[in-house]
Amino acid sequence: MANPNLNSDKEGLSAAEKEFENNIRPSNIEEFSGQQQIIDNLKIFIKAAKMRGEALDHVLFHGPPGLGKTTLSRIVANELGVSIKETSGPVIEKPGDLAGLLTGLEANDVLFIDEIHRLSTVVEEYLYAAMEDYRIDIMIDSGPNARSIQINLNPFTLIGATTRSGLLTAPLLSRFAIKSRLEYYNAETLQKIIQRAAGILNVKITSDAAREIAGRSRATPRIANGLLRRMRDFAMVLGNGVIDLGVTQHGLKALNVDEYGLDDMDNKILSAIIDKFKGGPVGITTIATAVGEEPGTLEEVYEPFLIQEGFLQRTPRGREVTAKAYEHLGKKPYGGINPTLFT
Ligand SMILES: Nc1ncnc2c1ncn2[C@@H]1O[C@H](COP(=O)(O)OP(=O)(O)OP(=O)(O)O)[C@@H](O)[C@H]1O
Ligand SMILES: [Mg+2]
Repeated sequence: MANPNLNSDKEGLSAAEKEFENNIRPSNIEEFSGQQQIIDNLKIFIKAAKMRGEALDHVLFHGPPGLGKTTLSRIVANELGVSIKETSGPVIEKPGDLAGLLTGLEANDVLFIDEIHRLSTVVEEYLYAAMEDYRIDIMIDSGPNARSIQINLNPFTLIGATTRSGLLTAPLLSRFAIKSRLEYYNAETLQKIIQRAAGILNVKITSDAAREIAGRSRATPRIANGLLRRMRDFAMVLGNGVIDLGVTQHGLKALNVDEYGLDDMDNKILSAIIDKFKGGPVGITTIATAVGEEPGTLEEVYEPFLIQEGFLQRTPRGREVTAKAYEHLGKKPYGGINPTLFT
């Protein structure tokens, strides 16, 4: 089963998990750790927009799930000192739905469209004029009296978020003046995020325990926070409530958390390449069929982490697993070559 934490619809997350996520979500820019370059640039653009009294240019946040796109979008609105209206691609069914949202915006407000790659073509095309000229056409009356009138909107900032930027059309992409790709977090930053979340949860955690969780969280804050929540349970029931290294090691083992933080799908991908395709090279579409996932999702959600962590590499002929993948899965390379010869 795919990891619900990596499902950007978050269909797999329970109401309690969603509430928890909202409670620990940083709401101002100083509480947000990591993504330094993005933050530094945003601070400048936000300040400049405020100095001019104008709406911030449209922003696109893209990158794998759970890295902070929604969080950052709310922070941007907060820093701008404006309201944010949140919606998502599949929810906006027709141009009229979008018109309703747009006409309700006050000057310089933020409209946040999550999963913007899922907008329908008609809605997307309707959005162009709004983004470009703060103007939309709306139909009034129906039947023989039907006519369209143009209305001016208040200046606004559209913030789009997507895990699948590869699905965005060129005209939509070109209308975002600010595009930021969120990166995976290093262990040090994740440790800070975990310690901050523990503070909000009012649970004590030792720094070695926070570091251990950080190293096993697929470099993703949402996963780190989810593990923290589970470790709190282990600490309460099996210990004295303090999350220390012993409780953490026990808990992570009990949950079968991979030592590198890889999830089921990551391991399934690596195993499939080794078992079915002799370790590669093999094309992404072939791998996708073997693991029952969309090629684009593999490419944009799973593969970047596997490559960053050195389990997978891209070659001109396709994807290939590395010696580290064989070692990690305890498998022998095709033909029985010792994996250490392959590094
Ligand atoms: N830089 C950060 N500092 C602290 N906490 C963070 C940071 N980034 C993300 N988080 C935490 O991780 C959780 C997930 O972040 P968020 O919902 O913003 O991810 P996302 O990129 O929008 O994911 P998705 O693609 O699934 O919508 C949030 O609850 C937030 O608390
Ligand atoms: Mg989000």
